[in-house]
Amino acid sequence: VNRPNLDFRGFSGLVSGGTIKPGDPVRIVPSGKNSSVKSIVALGGTLDEAVAGESVTITLEDEVDCSRGDVIATADDPPEVSDQFESTIVWMSDEALKPGRGYWLKLGSQTVGASVQEPKFEINVNTMERLAAKTLELNAIGVAEIQTDKPVVFEPYADSTELGGFILVDKITNATVAAGMLHFSLRRAANVHWQQTTITREEHGILKNQTPRVLWFTGLSGSGKSTIANEVEKSLNLMNRHTFLLDGDNVRHGLNKDLGFTEADRIENIRRVGEVAKLMTDAGLIVLTAFISPFRAERKMVRDMLPDAEFIEIFVDTPLEVAEERDVKGLYKKARSGKLKNFTGIDSPYEPPENPEIRVNTVEMTPAEATDFILSQIMPLK
Ligand code: ADX
Repeated sequence: VNRPNLDFRGFSGLVSGGTIKPGDPVRIVPSGKNSSVKSIVALGGTLDEAVAGESVTITLEDEVDCSRGDVIATADDPPEVSDQFESTIVWMSDEALKPGRGYWLKLGSQTVGASVQEPKFEINVNTMERLAAKTLELNAIGVAEIQTDKPVVFEPYADSTELGGFILVDKITNATVAAGMLHFSLRRAANVHWQQTTITREEHGILKNQTPRVLWFTGLSGSGKSTIANEVEKSLNLMNRHTFLLDGDNVRHGLNKDLGFTEADRIENIRRVGEVAKLMTDAGLIVLTAFISPFRAERKMVRDMLPDAEFIEIFVDTPLEVAEERDVKGLYKKARSGKLKNFTGIDSPYEPPENPEIRVNTVEMTPAEATDFILSQIMPLK
């Protein structure tokens, strides 16, 4: 379905397979509501039947919800719905696949957020040999698992090019970075359901007398994130706010001790921290996070996980020379002498925020001044 036609409760879209006639029992997927076809309308007037390839508007006997991206299917053989797949992917961008990063996945008229796992293998197109691969570079073809953030109505590409073929789009540049074919749904996806709980995030917040927030500090190593976040938390604590500070160095000793500093590991680091911060806001807390979080895409991913205005990005803006000069942990020295690889700012990139809610310059401000400034920007916290 491309477009619900509200004037006469019709649903416009492409017939992607088979035939459809008035009276046919149908099922709307993914919602699973049943109805039957009342009429089929095309440019020339009403039709007795529509076949694959035709663009038509369908009206149904019942008032059922059917919105953009939904599929009207025959009731006895509806397509599957899943959020985890195995797929073949052709990478079409100069910038290699980043496993774990969020992309848009477009399939038919559906658009959902999706991430690709590290490939199972790459295919040498000349010999059809399977090669080990950690990513896919320009023009590489590989097989990888994909997870979407919402269920997708699909059919294996072998059965339907329309409901089995997809593209991946970069969320920041909007460029198409890959094309792919869905093979099948992973069985584990079908067996995990969302459990409704009674006490809502609003109720958790009300009991704590506050609106949950994430104060997301980002900046170079040694920029002052942890120091300032710690001061802000101390002040909030004195104001009887319920807070929790997630600090990069600490989280990497526990939850994330299996992760290093490759791009893929940093993406996974921020994904997990984002999920934890989200859970903590669901529990009603004001969460402070102090991670380099070098990539715009992952900071945006966390922002998009939270309700509007709950994500406050705080850029601790310290020039590289200053952070390096301070070198509190002696890590810049190690990185310069080649003893530490992939160090942010030296041989691993940092993408500064373009529009942070708050920016503090630690050359012009002391940690105490930065703390006061941040508090002045976020108050009243209700
Ligand atoms: S992030 O890039 O994945 O967000 P995170 O904030 O968790 O990084 O961890 C950064 C801290 O790990 C730094 O403050 C520093 O103490 C330590 N560290 C160790 N190796 C590196 C490295 N290669 N690059 C950056 N920080 C490193």
